[in-house]
Amino acid sequence: MSNYSILGLCGSLRAKSVNLAALKAAAEQMPAGMTMTIADFSDLPLYNMDLQDQGWPSAVIRLRDQIAAADGLLIASPEYNWSVGAPLKNLIDWISRLKNQPLQGKPVAMISATEGAVGGVRGQLDLRRILSCLGAQMLVKPEVFIGLAYGKFSPEGVLTDELTRKFLTAQMAAYLEWIGRVKRAYS
Ligand SMILES: Cc1cc2nc3c(=O)[nH]c(=O)nc-3n(C[C@H](O)[C@H](O)[C@H](O)COP(=O)(O)O)c2cc1C
Repeated sequence: MSNYSILGLCGSLRAKSVNLAALKAAAEQMPAGMTMTIADFSDLPLYNMDLQDQGWPSAVIRLRDQIAAADGLLIASPEYNWSVGAPLKNLIDWISRLKNQPLQGKPVAMISATEGAVGGVRGQLDLRRILSCLGAQMLVKPEVFIGLAYGKFSPEGVLTDELTRKFLTAQMAAYLEWIGRVKRAYS
């Protein structure tokens, strides 16, 4: 049986983030054979080539090692102004400058949760485009867009919406299979 180690990335840095709550809910729906830990990248500086030239910031090295060691990434992110929010884009921009590209061939699944009804469709499309540039391998379906998310989690961040739970369960089952397929293709 597989024993995949998944790295969770939340595109929102706020403590009460519904995307963080969604990430945790997805972890609870993971089938046997995969577990997730959530990365903290709140200490990443804004990308600046001068900083890079002075030596990679320790947070970049830490994230690089975490991404490289993971069998896959699960990203939950809000949409900011119809696109990928700055914290996640900043992380990707830093990682993209590394020579041994840890995103190359990395299986990725994504979720988005938003206050409004649309659920982050536009942000996810942009995220797929950006990660494609780096050779990441995105699970296409099932897609998970959690619109009107404030009504779907308790104030403590526990998922209360059963339909969303079903979508997450189906996505995590497909993701387990997808990781196996990508690993076989790259071995
Ligand atoms: C800068 C900014 C831009 C936003 N743009 C969008 C948007 O384009 N589409 C959308 O559905 N929600 C947008 N929102 C609202 C977010 O859906 C809402 O703040 C959500 O709770 C963010 O996710 P979080 O709870 O994980 O932080 C925006 C919020 C912020 C702070």
